[in-house]
Amino acid sequence: MGKVLSVASECVPLVKTGGLADVVGALPGALAPEGWEMRVLVPAYPGLAARLGKAKGIWQDDNLFGGPAQVLCGRLDGVTILLLVAPHLYDRPGGIYSAEGRDHADNPERFAALCWVAAELARGAGSDGWRPEVLHAHDWQGGLAPAYLRYSGTTGVGTVMTIHNVAFQGIAPASRLAALRLPPGAFTRDGFEYYGSISTLKAGLVTADRITTVSPTYAEELMRPDFGLGLEGVLAERAGDLQGILNGVDAAVWSPETDAAIVPYSARRLAGKAENRQRLLREFGLGVIEGPLAIVVSRLTEQKGIDLLAGVLDGFAGAGGGFALLGTGEPGLEAAMLAAEARWPGRVAIRIGYDEALAHRMFAGGDAVLVPSRFEPCGLTQMYGLRYGTIPVVAATGGLNDTVIGASPASLLAGAATGIAFHPVDSVALAGALRRLVQLHGDPRLWSGMIRRAMKADVSWSGPARAYGALYRSLAT
Ligand code: ADP
Ligand code: GLC
Repeated sequence: MGKVLSVASECVPLVKTGGLADVVGALPGALAPEGWEMRVLVPAYPGLAARLGKAKGIWQDDNLFGGPAQVLCGRLDGVTILLLVAPHLYDRPGGIYSAEGRDHADNPERFAALCWVAAELARGAGSDGWRPEVLHAHDWQGGLAPAYLRYSGTTGVGTVMTIHNVAFQGIAPASRLAALRLPPGAFTRDGFEYYGSISTLKAGLVTADRITTVSPTYAEELMRPDFGLGLEGVLAERAGDLQGILNGVDAAVWSPETDAAIVPYSARRLAGKAENRQRLLREFGLGVIEGPLAIVVSRLTEQKGIDLLAGVLDGFAGAGGGFALLGTGEPGLEAAMLAAEARWPGRVAIRIGYDEALAHRMFAGGDAVLVPSRFEPCGLTQMYGLRYGTIPVVAATGGLNDTVIGASPASLLAGAATGIAFHPVDSVALAGALRRLVQLHGDPRLWSGMIRRAMKADVSWSGPARAYGALYRSLAT
């Protein structure tokens, strides 16, 4: 088996704020059949060390960015987890990135420490002698891992930097250079300097051997100013080393045939789906919905186009549609959604909160899942929608564009459509997509054909895992 060390700030089932955690948690299982043993290094946020059960210390330091630290190695759900225990950095109340709406002031140091330890372990500094051929870093929190390796002149370890979302760039003031243990000589335009500040994501992008992102369309988009958000030049320069590899769906967690949170069903036996729909209507306090029941499970942010939804729900509900949303996020967007609920009692229902089990019940009971994102590196909820026969209505961008075949006269005639796609990402096009949804849902033959095709679409990890395996092999030899 080849060995890969994955370093990230989140990992299912330990800690999750978004799709990054799903992907980091699924990769080890997906890569094992490809011949790769992947260990995952994550910070020991409060309570995590206890979840690991029997674990042994494999590394320690008296002064890791201002305090003592150790790495615990243990197994969870078949995956080897390396927990970085450093109470001065991670053991504190609030969220993993922020408390009371404000980022932790020492976030640069918190994740620099994680990367420092990743680089140590990649050099074989763990007392168990485990040394990976490849170090795989995720997003800005992992960006300094390939950088520390490169700046220390380490050879013999290949490095991969994956962008899950370029909007978060790990910006720190230049005055933190020494505190972050970065070489002043690399504070340049072709190093990690970014408009006078430090960018930990850029550090990863300029030092990693290869760069990946989570869909082929996003890989292209990233090289354009409207999507690259300042890093388009850096990425265009590395176009030859940049590759888009789609995420997959973890079948152990997301399969309507075996999902313990729902009435199970399959493409051949759809009766259970109707029962889930009934239950969902009841759970959300919705009345009889003759049109499509659309769901949203999302962070409520501008990225996700939630503001666009607020403007088109009246038309959709007026045309017979029903709407159920689960999410948390920007207060203004939460308020806009709650206002729509108040206008449409029994037709529009909003749950502000985070609830994994409810998310499963929504994918099982909905007719369609709406994902009107302005940009979407990959997106997971449209893929859950495909698996559960809950037709995705998506903006034609990023991974949404790569996973959903939009209904058009040609794709319907060819029997290929698995969803509805719209472009440009504005309220006019979104309203049009919702009219199309009502229309298609009203044609039972077309609609059931789409559901069956959606459920058969391959959104598994097998293709993506092969691509990662090939990438690691190219670096390990
Ligand atoms: P992003 O990572 O940008 O938020 P993704 O679509 O990649 O978008 O992943 C989002 C993940 O978070 C999915 O697994 C989705 O089901 C989950 N999720 C988002 N909001 C909620 C919520 N309020 N309750 C439960 N799960 C949620
Ligand atoms: C980011 C992106 C999302 C992607 C996820 C996992 O959170 O916003 O599109 O699916 O990472 O790669």
